[in-house]
Amino acid sequence: MGRGKILVADDEPQVREVLSRYLTNIGHHIGVASNGDEVLGKIDAEQFDLVLLDISMPGKSGIEVLKELQTKCPDTGVIMVTAIADINIAIDAMRNGAYDYLVKPIDLNMLSISIERALERRRLLLENREYQLYLEKKVEEQTSQIKQSFLGAISALVQALEAKDTYTQGHSIMVAEIAVAIARELGMPEKQVEKIRLAALLHDIGKIGVRESVLNKQSSLTPEEYEHIKSHCILGKRILQPIIEDNEILDIIVHHHEKYDGTGYPDGLKAGQLPKEAMIVAAAEEYATRLSQDTMVLAAADAYAAMSSDRPYRQALPPQAIETELENEKGKQFDPVVVDALLKVLKRRNSKVHQ
Ligand SMILES: [Fe+2]
Repeated sequence: MGRGKILVADDEPQVREVLSRYLTNIGHHIGVASNGDEVLGKIDAEQFDLVLLDISMPGKSGIEVLKELQTKCPDTGVIMVTAIADINIAIDAMRNGAYDYLVKPIDLNMLSISIERALERRRLLLENREYQLYLEKKVEEQTSQIKQSFLGAISALVQALEAKDTYTQGHSIMVAEIAVAIARELGMPEKQVEKIRLAALLHDIGKIGVRESVLNKQSSLTPEEYEHIKSHCILGKRILQPIIEDNEILDIIVHHHEKYDGTGYPDGLKAGQLPKEAMIVAAAEEYATRLSQDTMVLAAADAYAAMSSDRPYRQALPPQAIETELENEKGKQFDPVVVDALLKVLKRRNSKVHQ
């Protein structure tokens, strides 16, 4: 039989004496308490495997003590001890988490069996919980490993693109930073912000499949070359599909060159709320193909980053010209709500620079 550390709580000195002596003789370590407060005090001071708890004691009743023990130290098992008259209370105690109950006068054989069972049950519970914690830790470790290798794959892709396209160097990081600032300004939940960040870092990844001569061309593009460049949106989705399961992120990437008014590419989708009539007249299909605000955030951040950096064929635009352009394109290229958020972000940054 396993040995345990047991607290014997009873207001009658003889009962404490008999039980303590018996339990010590069969190998357990014993503590004693004569009322509820003493039980709680001892439990605070040291750890017990089990409490043998008399239901009727002066002061706090055994049931009250049981409830406190459950919150204080749920790992300590409790066996209730009761007089015949208290049998219903004892059953109630079992409902409240007591392992067992014994009726006075206590049969010592029954006591030893009950204690053995309680200690075994407690041991199994603890083992089970430890195993669960171990499993949780394992899952956590594996999740973080998967995340690490995922991020490794992503940064390898970004590096591959940057090696090929001089303009992209640092562009994705800049777009991600602005897109995140706009998303936060719009009060989007952090989960959505993270999706936008990832989409922003990867939005031009499809350019890996675009000819270098076209990517870095200094003069204007032929119609064929322009079509070739435009393919980077769909190509990006195709490259990322095996590693990104989240369709929202892939959708943002495919549509980052779409415009609010539906004149962008590759699908010419529109953004913004549908008119009421359209919502009513079974416009579910059109509703499903509406651009998300997440996409509009990335589109605006991308355009802003492009305007504010030097390109092979032109210099960066001055801040005032960028603002005018953003204002002019509200409701055409850009989502007006997103533009307002971007302008607020820019204003805040400007005031920080001039402080
Ligand atoms: Fe792009």
